[in-house]
Amino acid sequence: MMKYAAKIKNPLRRKLLAWYRHHQRSLPWRNTNDPYCIWISEIMLQQTRVDTVIPYYERFIKSFPDVRTLANAPVQDVLKIWENLGYYSRARNIHAASRIITDRCGGRIPDKSEEIKTLPGIGDYTAGAILSIAYGLAVPAVDGNVRRILCRLFAIRKSVDDPRGQKKLRDLAAALVPSRHAGDFNQALMDLGATICRVKKPDCLICPVGSICRVRLSGLQESIPVTRKNPAIPRKQGAAAVIFDASHRLLIVQRPSSGLLASLWKLPGGFVHDGKSIKKCLRDCVREELNISIAAGSCLASADHTYTHFRLTLQAFDCRLMKGNPEARTCQNWRWATTSQLEKLPMSKIDRKILAEVASSSPLS
Ligand code: ADE
Repeated sequence: MMKYAAKIKNPLRRKLLAWYRHHQRSLPWRNTNDPYCIWISEIMLQQTRVDTVIPYYERFIKSFPDVRTLANAPVQDVLKIWENLGYYSRARNIHAASRIITDRCGGRIPDKSEEIKTLPGIGDYTAGAILSIAYGLAVPAVDGNVRRILCRLFAIRKSVDDPRGQKKLRDLAAALVPSRHAGDFNQALMDLGATICRVKKPDCLICPVGSICRVRLSGLQESIPVTRKNPAIPRKQGAAAVIFDASHRLLIVQRPSSGLLASLWKLPGGFVHDGKSIKKCLRDCVREELNISIAAGSCLASADHTYTHFRLTLQAFDCRLMKGNPEARTCQNWRWATTSQLEKLPMSKIDRKILAEVASSSPLS
């Protein structure tokens, strides 16, 4: 362990735990020590802000109060609860993991690092969070917030994107976690990162560990951590077909069971490829998906959404079925849906935005 870490280890633990006792955020998953609830909260909190997670967490625990209820539920019900929370593979992983836990772990969330990390969706960070918070084990939980705090506390100028640098920060965090109150210590770091040691304008004047923070006196706190510039993300275009039957029900398809937004429902269509017109792409995509020929008319709606690796602009066109009966070719399933049926099926945010716009221009049945 670096010399400075050995020197501040005890005051750091003491100060952080004392601060957490008085200033911790009141969060619903902090009123329980049920490992199942801690697990669900930690998966939801991956890449998602606390405020966004709270209502989803509450609805999820109400619908699936324990691991067996979750394992017995259809995955579509889990995706529906997850709707608009994003990163839907988390919901599928939670569901798959619940079946493994009931089938192979006697219904108990594992309490060993090697075992818990074999479950889908559980990596180093989440394993550390669950083991420390639910079982009190002295393991670190190092995410971007904790890396930022450590880099500032120890004035580390190496890029936090570098894998060797990240390993060093994990080792450092492991050396700092106390054997008692490890969950509180880790959650204190999370709260400190969210409320005081923020990316921009950290509130150093009220920081409980300001007096032992190496970067504070230098005034360089906003230039640490050092990160690589994010590469510009590409833009993509998508086209969707709005096709009604004689009873004014809408034709929708279920995405394949793997890949982006797997198993969610959407309008027929797909990405636009360079060199082809948007309507030609749409006709080709729909033929591939459903083996039908369509005619594409005017644009009814348009919406944007940013995913991790690209920005999407999706346009929906007023279309007519010209030839053939739908068959599930590259999609998992298809159906004609009324408004109330549409509401019950899981869909992504951009598809919901498009449907809302379509409905305002042409009421659905
Ligand atoms: N972010 C990830 N896990 C968290 C937790 N347990 N409390 C607050 N923020 C978190």
